[in-house]
Amino acid sequence: MMKEQLFQQFSIKNVRFKNRFVMAPMTRNFSQNGVPHLDAAEYYSMRARGGVGLIITEGVEISHPSSSGYSGCPNLISDESKRAWEKVITSVHKEDTKIFCQLWHVGGIRKPGMYPDPNVPGFTPSGIVKKGKKVAHEMSLDEIEEMIEVYANDAKICEDLGFDGIEIHGAHGYLVDQFFWEVTNQRTDNYGGSLEKRINFAKDIISSSKKSTSENFIVGIRFSQWKQQDYGAKIANNIDELDKFISELSKSDPDFFHTSMRRFWEPEFESSNLNLSACVKQLSKLPVIAVGSVGLDKDFIKLYQGDHEAKIGDFDKLFNTFENDSFDMIAIGRALLSDPNLIEKLENSNFKDMVPFDKRYVEKYV
Ligand SMILES: Cc1cc2nc3c(=O)[nH]c(=O)nc-3n(C[C@H](O)[C@H](O)[C@H](O)COP(=O)(O)O)c2cc1C
Repeated sequence: MMKEQLFQQFSIKNVRFKNRFVMAPMTRNFSQNGVPHLDAAEYYSMRARGGVGLIITEGVEISHPSSSGYSGCPNLISDESKRAWEKVITSVHKEDTKIFCQLWHVGGIRKPGMYPDPNVPGFTPSGIVKKGKKVAHEMSLDEIEEMIEVYANDAKICEDLGFDGIEIHGAHGYLVDQFFWEVTNQRTDNYGGSLEKRINFAKDIISSSKKSTSENFIVGIRFSQWKQQDYGAKIANNIDELDKFISELSKSDPDFFHTSMRRFWEPEFESSNLNLSACVKQLSKLPVIAVGSVGLDKDFIKLYQGDHEAKIGDFDKLFNTFENDSFDMIAIGRALLSDPNLIEKLENSNFKDMVPFDKRYVEKYV
């Protein structure tokens, strides 16, 4: 594919994007009582005006008291929340940009004592959060079924509010990923054991969300090999396991895969030089979104390790990887926090005016 095609239209089913650039989901901790911040419409529409074709919202807590694990995250529960999201959606659509809601449950990252109900523990497949002993609540089969229904109801709420789609957060060691990962999933029922069975929770969430919404509403999933509990972890140790993972997940009919990488150009397995998104593209016909250190010289984990200043990096890597057909859409996180007009500047090759990233851009909202 030609580099210019990055700046041209792309579609997932009937949803058309003005280009292939995506704002990555980023938790901002600026919402009070689950209601998106007053400035949320401006925060998102600035990035839409600056050239982004698709926005994936910050993680939005699903409507279950166990989903929350950090302060200041939005949800879909109150009327006030819903009206605030409608405002965000309308402002983003005015810029001819589409918007997906990222549905999130933090799983065992939640600790007792947290908002909204201090008595509700972290919900997990097997009570395990990282290698070691049980520290959280092991979900019963009834609780799993209830959770799947909560996702499906929230998907419907998202469609009614006007979102163009949803992304199930299945990455980074949170609930859905805790089911994927054998270390945190030691169940012996239909939701644990073999790789196929560990995928069933995500599959049921996707198929129920597709059932509760209309044909044109987009339902996709983000996943990662790495976990916040273990950066070296892998769900798939080789291309055959990845093949199994992707073909099983595909049975639930997702509309896209979002492969979360820390550095999007790095090979995934020793056997080839393909990155994770390129491997998935070889294994599936579905659209694939890639992410990870686009335009910056450091990956985002450094932000949480105190080394937060990232300079504008090499965009040739992005163009070359795209020309090698390694992804369909590319998501950008930090570089869009520091520079809402990054895509416009990239299109005009205006590299000198791009704003480098540091933690001050996380500490302020708009
Ligand atoms: C402040 C911040 C908050 C994030 N919150 C989320 C989130 O809510 N959901 C998610 O899937 N990823 C989240 N991420 C990960 C980003 O979506 C993205 O994958 C990561 O930052 C790598 O992209 P980048 O190198 O372009 O920043 C967050 C990252 C940052 C920097």
